[in-house]
Amino acid sequence: MSEETKTERLFSMRAKAQAGGGQKRIDAQHEKGKLTARERIDFLVDEGSFVELDRFVTHRCTDFGMGDQKILGDGVVTGHALIKGRPVYLFSQDFTVFGGSLSETHAEKICKIMDLATKNGVPVIALKDSGGARIQEGVSSLGGYAEIFWRNTQASGVVPQISAIMGPCAGGAVYSPALTDFVFMVEGTSYMHITGPEVVKTVTHEVVTSEELGGAAVHAEKSGVSHFTAADDKSCLNSIRELLSYLPLNNAEGAPMGSCEDPADRCDEELDTLVPTDPQKPYDMHRIIERVVDVDSFMEVHAEYARNILVGFARLGGRVVGIVANQPAVLAGCLDIASSEKGARFIRFCDAFNIPIVTFEDVPGFLPGTDQEYAGIIRHGAKLLYAYCEATVPKLTVITRKAYGGAYDVMGSKHVRADLNVAWPGAQIAVMGAAGAANIIHRREIGASDKPEEVLAEKAAEYEETFNNPYRAAARGFIDDVIEARMTRPYLIRALGILASKHEPGPVRKHGNIPL
Ligand code: HXC
Repeated sequence: MSEETKTERLFSMRAKAQAGGGQKRIDAQHEKGKLTARERIDFLVDEGSFVELDRFVTHRCTDFGMGDQKILGDGVVTGHALIKGRPVYLFSQDFTVFGGSLSETHAEKICKIMDLATKNGVPVIALKDSGGARIQEGVSSLGGYAEIFWRNTQASGVVPQISAIMGPCAGGAVYSPALTDFVFMVEGTSYMHITGPEVVKTVTHEVVTSEELGGAAVHAEKSGVSHFTAADDKSCLNSIRELLSYLPLNNAEGAPMGSCEDPADRCDEELDTLVPTDPQKPYDMHRIIERVVDVDSFMEVHAEYARNILVGFARLGGRVVGIVANQPAVLAGCLDIASSEKGARFIRFCDAFNIPIVTFEDVPGFLPGTDQEYAGIIRHGAKLLYAYCEATVPKLTVITRKAYGGAYDVMGSKHVRADLNVAWPGAQIAVMGAAGAANIIHRREIGASDKPEEVLAEKAAEYEETFNNPYRAAARGFIDDVIEARMTRPYLIRALGILASKHEPGPVRKHGNIPL
């Protein structure tokens, strides 16, 4: 074969690999409002930066006539690229090839990417669009999945792992995204469920659609499986680019410093009046966070799930921080099962990847009730406590109003080894609210009085004066200072600077036993 013919062969092979499952299937993909696997990569990464691996891989299956049906690449496009100039490994399942289903070789391609990413300390991005296990391959496919799950677990806490569900993701296949750090879903075109509508109908007699069972809204609001929801493929891919800008490449590095136009010494007078003095009145904690952090830098994670706690990334003086905040506008900011898990998972991510944690606290306690007790608030609430205790990154806590009871201890208190704790002047740090406390310790006196309400009010005021202020805690050194709300931003930025060299090795052990 002449040199020219050899090169022609290469070009023709490349063109075949590029074509995936063919134009008809590409058109069908577009008709569903979805991009193809390659279009997704092109949109996600910096122009011209994608380097493909394994484009000529084909499956090895000969059953069910598969020996005659080989498509170069075998349903997944894999490689590395740059996003905002920083490296990533990625794979993108190609629904136009056997429905993006996972064969043994398809899995091997993914595993190669994951091994390289873990070895080289580079994040992995998975763009998922797959009919699940390649049915013709049986257990070879199942083995492939388990190889991926194992690698997901090995990579956990070593490199950030991001999954975007951009089509079907069903059966055991859902466990790879579930093992990764962040899950994105696209509205209307993606779903995740363990068993599909048909099986559900047979077993429980419920009639549901895939969307109702495991669509983007379900996992964003009800199950908490997904962290981000996007209106379409492009906005999903844009959000992945944004998220990556907050993350270090691996657990040995810090998150990238952002440029900061917002002055580090900016004081915001509005903050002094944002928190209502009446402890029963709600307010939106978003407004506090947004005024403290670098302008427009707050990227909320899990925004639709367990809205009584807020978590997300932001920058303070250009430095990336993880924000954890009670949300008084939802359930009065009480901690419950869902919010404890949400907070714990986020804190553990930040701790694994060297991102300091800033807590904004206004918490009246844990949510009471049989629902919560029967479902195990003790065990699940302990996860949040464990995560705060375990985290050795810089921990900074700002008490904006209430810090009551056990929740005071949990939410980044000095006792769980926060590095800097401050309170605003209106903070109330106590075992419980004044009225509740007075009702318990003066019950007899109140009961015996012919004006019980007046006595209660008087005793509550007395309790409030004694305990429901920040100064008892300050007198014990449990908070480091009481600061005007307007000073919070410069205060935190200075603290982050001094804490940047924090080093706190934990005890030697295989691993702790977080109450799962
Ligand atoms: C092989 C598959 C496939 C699969 C789809 N295809 N899923 N091929 N194995 N799992 C092929 C179809 O035959 C079809 O080929 C093409 O992909 C597109 O599929 P359509 O059905 O035409 O597309 P659509 O109508 O959009 O439906 C998509 C779908 C459906 C809902 C995903 O294909 C489907 O139900 N597939 C089977 C899903 C499934 O049961 N998977 C196994 C789950 S168990 P042609 O040639 O016609 O274009 C599992 C266990 C994992 O995954 C365990 C891990 C531990």
